[in-house]
Amino acid sequence: MHDLIPAPARVEGEGRCGFVLDEATTLTAGPGTEGTERWLRSTLGAAFGLPLAPGAVDAEGAASAPNTVELRVDPSLEPEGYRLGVSPTWGVRITGGSGAGVFWGAQTLRQLLGPEAFRRAPVGVSGPRGLAAMDIEDGPRFGWRGMMLDVARHFMPKEGVLRMLDLLAAHKLNVFHFHLTDDQGWRVEIERRPRLTEVGSWRARSKHGHRASELWDETPHGGFYTKDDIREIVAYAAERHIRVVPEIDIPGHSQAAISAYPELGNTDVVDTSALSVWDTWGVNPNVLAPTDNTLRFFEGVFEELLELFPADTSPFFHIGGDECPKDQWRQSPTAQARIAELGLADEDELQSWFIRHFDRWFADRGRRVIGWDEILEGGLAEGAAVTSWRGYGGGIAAAEAGHDVVMCPLQQVYLDYRQADGPDEPMPIAYVRTLEDVYRFEPVPPGLSEEAARHVMGTQANVWTEVMQNQDRVDYQVFPRLAAFAEVAWSRLPAPEERDFAGFEGRMTAHYARLDALGVAYRPPTGPKPWQRRPGVLGRPLEGPPPIA
Ligand code: ACM
Repeated sequence: MHDLIPAPARVEGEGRCGFVLDEATTLTAGPGTEGTERWLRSTLGAAFGLPLAPGAVDAEGAASAPNTVELRVDPSLEPEGYRLGVSPTWGVRITGGSGAGVFWGAQTLRQLLGPEAFRRAPVGVSGPRGLAAMDIEDGPRFGWRGMMLDVARHFMPKEGVLRMLDLLAAHKLNVFHFHLTDDQGWRVEIERRPRLTEVGSWRARSKHGHRASELWDETPHGGFYTKDDIREIVAYAAERHIRVVPEIDIPGHSQAAISAYPELGNTDVVDTSALSVWDTWGVNPNVLAPTDNTLRFFEGVFEELLELFPADTSPFFHIGGDECPKDQWRQSPTAQARIAELGLADEDELQSWFIRHFDRWFADRGRRVIGWDEILEGGLAEGAAVTSWRGYGGGIAAAEAGHDVVMCPLQQVYLDYRQADGPDEPMPIAYVRTLEDVYRFEPVPPGLSEEAARHVMGTQANVWTEVMQNQDRVDYQVFPRLAAFAEVAWSRLPAPEERDFAGFEGRMTAHYARLDALGVAYRPPTGPKPWQRRPGVLGRPLEGPPPIA
């Protein structure tokens, strides 16, 4: 039995010793696998203190020594698929349909080598590592296997983002949805609009959780990524075959931008010059004004972001569209004049007009727009894809209408929702979503036609950080549930009720040891919580409100 997570499609021939990783092991990288070669040296090489020197190759460029890890692209395989063979005659051979497939195969190799392979540096003498002879054939169910991280509610410094990318890669996830702006903070430098970060990246204080009473953390909170930070993050992700989907959330969730540039708001309804970066959570009434000035402003923002997020690794731009209350537009003579001038029926169509504008704008520049399922209201823009978060409904409607969708229903894969009841759990939010609940999540809902199901590009887990003040809190919410999610996204699991959760839990024993080696502050299945083992790290679990059902 293997203990790989996510489970591979096929594993055969385990048993006799096939290979020993030691001082003499060499590494041979064929064309297109250089990133994985670097990655293996910096992870396995560092963890075991081994040089993994470049190996000798024969006239065809194949490895010519048996004690070799050989990486090769074979385009006859599925692009992200791979084969991993271990044999006493030729060592370890990872063949992938593309550089990405080879990289996912290398992730499997690391798991096969035991939890020590996940350490950042050798601890004591590691000794040789044996591997059984075997043959693995594997490839993902979905092409979009993602996680969204909200860095607006609580800022995660660049180093934490790079670490998270490594954690995504370790779970064979290939999309990082980077929620860069919200009412509570603007997190990316825009040179032509410096106040977005000068003003918009800091708030005076933060609410503890969602309850309406007076629990505040009076410490100012903020931070943003410089353009160089973003370039580093994007390059780091690309090396790991992770696509980055930047999100600028418009026309709602925009109070941070409006506080920096008050003319972006509905100035004929509210005195937007009195607004500051929002210091509480929830749905905010202060939304963008549907004016030409707003369109030009965000075109300028997106022009700078197009350069930072290149087309090959960021084919999609997320433009939000969620939770945009229409009250100010109803009251605003300017917004109403716009509705009349465009011949629109109502404020929902005004939002559609706004999203359509950017759908075309991005399409003209070779990119695709994706938005939360509210962008369906008032009519979906032509080429837009949808992240379906309020359940499956939006995703089903969009897919049936021929639009691509990513399933991320809050009932299943919102990892800010708590993992268990109990007084020693941190700030309760929403309802309990256990590890098993996530494991039994099915991204393609029953009843979807075959044709529509083809439009389900995949799935992502969403991590909103209102109650996650630091990296440890993010770790606690995300892990171990992201491991279950990764298996749902990668492996071809049977129907939810037929899934072998006990088997998954069994494999998790090995996976917890990997997460320990990586220093992840996951929620343990039993025993003390991370903050009980390491006092002060997470702070006292806050006394929360009654659960939000
Ligand atoms: C969302 O959770 N507002 C997309």
